[in-house]
Amino acid sequence: HPSDPSSARPSGPASEGVGRIRPRRLRSTPAMRRLVAQTRVHPAELVLPVFVREGLAEPRPIASMPGVVQHTRDSLRRAAAEAAEAGLGGLMLFGVPLVRDAVGTQATDPDGILNRAIADVVAEVGDALVVQADLCLDEFTDHGHCGVLTATGAVDNDATLVRYAEMALAQADAGAHLVGLSGMMDGQVGVVRDALDEAGHLDVAVLAYAAKYASAFYGPFRDAVESTLEGDRRTYQMDPANRREALREVAIDIAEGADVVMVKPAMSYLDVLADVAAMSSVPISAYQVSGEYAMIEAAAAAGWIDRRRAIEESVVGIRRAGADHVLTYWATELAGWLAEEKR
Ligand code: PBG
Repeated sequence: HPSDPSSARPSGPASEGVGRIRPRRLRSTPAMRRLVAQTRVHPAELVLPVFVREGLAEPRPIASMPGVVQHTRDSLRRAAAEAAEAGLGGLMLFGVPLVRDAVGTQATDPDGILNRAIADVVAEVGDALVVQADLCLDEFTDHGHCGVLTATGAVDNDATLVRYAEMALAQADAGAHLVGLSGMMDGQVGVVRDALDEAGHLDVAVLAYAAKYASAFYGPFRDAVESTLEGDRRTYQMDPANRREALREVAIDIAEGADVVMVKPAMSYLDVLADVAAMSSVPISAYQVSGEYAMIEAAAAAGWIDRRRAIEESVVGIRRAGADHVLTYWATELAGWLAEEKR
């Protein structure tokens, strides 16, 4: 067709190369596209976040996250076995306790739901998966903040660090391979690293949610953990307007001993992910959060987007921007598709 530039013939020096240079050649067949694909997603790079709730008889659906449930301890074990079977890189565990108080006592009780669930999963899968635990107080406090409060209701950074150190030990004692510090308190990585080392947990890794933004995209997560938060987290989580500050947070966390750093959420922060990838000396994780999950599920359910293609495109985009691994609620399903494609 004459208006298609690819069919134009070179007609003189000014159009040198037209018709000769044809990028479309590398897109011409599935085999050619597979050969030149620059970014791949592998099941080992996927981590499945899971919720386990105390006192449930049956897994309970989460309304704002269709397809995701609050697990019972038994159904969590089954999900962990399935994740290992699918070849995932790991699980990230979140606990939902029945009783909450001002200091989040259940977070450090060895019989608390999260610590029991860590031990369950380790018993189920051993080290076939990296068993990871959310290290933060918000699911365990009655006020819903990620730390303990001062008398006037502010989040007390340094008092919170003491609780984080205790929580890290409880999780490591339960068998966690990696603790995920998601509270955005200053100094949290160093304090937890020291506490783990002093207790002899030299091999328990620290994932720092280094660049964690105060995001509307955590909305459905509040449902998932039955959060009681009043107010917001803007005095500790980062302002979405800030890009440079992410590099400062990452540098601090690496200096304090972080083994992996995270950018969260993922899809609205791909520039941050690319910046961090350009400077980080440790692996980079990205969290495709609950709101990102809910948006794609809702649009797909309405018939507005192709669900599978949207999921695959979103995750490959996060990898392309610089994430070494991705926390996503689709991890097991996506790993299944990847196995299908290999056949
Ligand atoms: C804090 C924590 C949150 C998420 C993971 N860890 C909530 C928050 O910071 O408000 C959100 C994850 C998601 O939205 O999928 N414990």
